[in-house]
Amino acid sequence: MRIAMIGTGYVGLVSGACFADFGHRVTCVDTAASKIAALNRGEIPIFEPDLDRLVAASVSAGRLDFTTDLAGPVGEADAVFIAVGTPSRRGDGHADLTYVHAAAREIAKALQGFTVVVTKSTVPVGTGDEVERIIRETNPQADVAVASNPEFLREGAAIRDFKHPDRIVVGTSDERARKVLGEVYRPLYLNQAPIMYTERRTAELIKYAANAFLATKITFINEMADLSEKVGADVQEVARGIGLDNRIGPKFLNAGPGFGGSCFPKDTRALVKTALDHDVPLRIVEAVLAVNDNRKRAMARKVASALGGNLRGKTIGLLGLTFKPDTDDMREAPSIPLVTGLLDLGAKVRAYDPVGMEQAKGELPDITYCEDPYAVAKDADALVIVTEWRQFRALDLTRLKREMANPVMVDLRNIYRRDEMEELGFTYESVGRGAI
Ligand code: UDX
Repeated sequence: MRIAMIGTGYVGLVSGACFADFGHRVTCVDTAASKIAALNRGEIPIFEPDLDRLVAASVSAGRLDFTTDLAGPVGEADAVFIAVGTPSRRGDGHADLTYVHAAAREIAKALQGFTVVVTKSTVPVGTGDEVERIIRETNPQADVAVASNPEFLREGAAIRDFKHPDRIVVGTSDERARKVLGEVYRPLYLNQAPIMYTERRTAELIKYAANAFLATKITFINEMADLSEKVGADVQEVARGIGLDNRIGPKFLNAGPGFGGSCFPKDTRALVKTALDHDVPLRIVEAVLAVNDNRKRAMARKVASALGGNLRGKTIGLLGLTFKPDTDDMREAPSIPLVTGLLDLGAKVRAYDPVGMEQAKGELPDITYCEDPYAVAKDADALVIVTEWRQFRALDLTRLKREMANPVMVDLRNIYRRDEMEELGFTYESVGRGAI
């Protein structure tokens, strides 16, 4: 199969590299010339484990290349994937479809022979209809089918998720398009991944419903964590106890500082907006958003109360800044409202993140960046584990404590055990572990 991938952001680059790895001939297209030039030099603009290796292997095998020229690869493609950004529109929280629509217009002009145009970007229900309308208006002769094929990749595990998906969702009623996309994903369903064919609008909604449900699961356990603290229960045990019920399942029940990232906040907001437009308010998802926003803002107060309530003149050290491990992504990271809150309360903030510090500097200019966790600990009145990077699970705690002015540890990811920490002489706070 010949594939054109429009957009070399996170989804486009990972999907393009994985399709090429399956043996397809893939061209990734982006309007940003500097990005394409960098990719052609072998530089990967995002941090994702293994992506550089995968890209390099497919490029040298002649199955993957990068260009700013959209028309050539689209003309030759069996399938054209739209994987451009759909940011939150300023002001109203709707998904901004400017890039999707622009891509559809450009693609339309270049189509030759039967081609499936596939939206991979997360787009509101009905966007496929709009893309089809734009294409048919721009090029009435085009032999085209428009499908929706949402992506369920997690940052940091994107390649594994792509190659071992729980399911592949293909939304189109066009038989020829189903056949083409069946071929595109053949290596995966040979691997037993279920492929689900459905209507386009249903596929579009599946993506939003999945993200909203997962965000709900996290928010639910976060509220249980708050209750656990008050009633003397342990939320990790609660999560295990409910997760062993197959109907609930064990995943996405880790309590923490609230969800962030490029998808959950943006997509739940967009879903709420779509639903309101249709006069079907989604009360549960609305509550999830509100509870999560409050939670992120409350984390600074949690740190303050671990230090007796007053942070004026105190030095707080943060371990981790990115919204989760194995990514340099700072979008909607809980660290951002945490830092703002700590600074507002009069604290000085020092921080270390294994890969996210360059990205963080743009978002958080008013803190001190350190070269390792021990430098962060130096003279700190408290350390806060904000992101559960693997290297933070094996810290030399005795050394860390020696560096600190005051051995208070606030573990927002529950990666340490209270008894161990107290034995070492730390005052230890975590999330939802009220049991003594
Ligand atoms: C998510 C979806 O998982 C993925 O299917 C979709 O395609 C894009 O959005 P991602 O944002 O990369 O992926 O990360 P994910 O691992 O889902 O975590 C999202 C946020 O939820 C992070 O802030 C994480 O810390 C938080 N989270 C996740 C929890 O607080 N507890 C959990 O149990 C799981």
